[in-house]
Amino acid sequence: MLRLTVFVSGRGSNLQAIHTAVSQRRLHAEIVGVVSNRSASPALEFAHTQRISRLSLEDMETQQQGDEILAFLEQTRTDFIALAGYMKLIPSEVVAVFRHRITNIHPALLPSFGGKGMYGRHVHEAVLSSGVKVSGATVHLVDEEYDRGPIVMQRCVPVLDDDTPESLATRVLAVEHAMYPEALQLFAEKRVELRGNRIITRSLRIL
Ligand code: GRF
Repeated sequence: MLRLTVFVSGRGSNLQAIHTAVSQRRLHAEIVGVVSNRSASPALEFAHTQRISRLSLEDMETQQQGDEILAFLEQTRTDFIALAGYMKLIPSEVVAVFRHRITNIHPALLPSFGGKGMYGRHVHEAVLSSGVKVSGATVHLVDEEYDRGPIVMQRCVPVLDDDTPESLATRVLAVEHAMYPEALQLFAEKRVELRGNRIITRSLRIL
């Protein structure tokens, strides 16, 4: 059972997908916290309605953020962090304490179409102008850089001839909502093993 804190900047549809998976017991976790860098984020409002502890980092000095986040994670007894549309770098002191226990979801097949500035519509525009025929979503472990870190899970979607950034984003987002809870469940079942830069998913032992 994971004690999960979810970091969100925007609308929070992945947070809701994770929340649904928890309530349907597809994901053995409890969402114990929601953190956002924007106090107006709908995700914080959602957390409020669900009586989940919240932390807003808006107007907080960058230096202060690491300490505030660590205090919140301790207070909520968080043991795993899921970034779901969080636009900022996680302070390095938080990465250090939670190394290999932070995941992110990215709306393309990393290591392509990632890195600083590659978020939201920019990702899908870059995918379309590159001419690739498949895109998808990636769940990966988080380190000190944007969109780097070992890949936990990837799923593909086709890129269609008449796609716009919006239509492609919609197709990718549907895959994200299914995949992120599944990827987190691997951690809940302690099936994730890191070998060098590769993540090996151990099969469940049936007694
Ligand atoms: C998703 O596309 C995710 O891959 C990216 O940001 C978006 C967040 O969407 N990192 P939402 O806030 O979960 O709806």
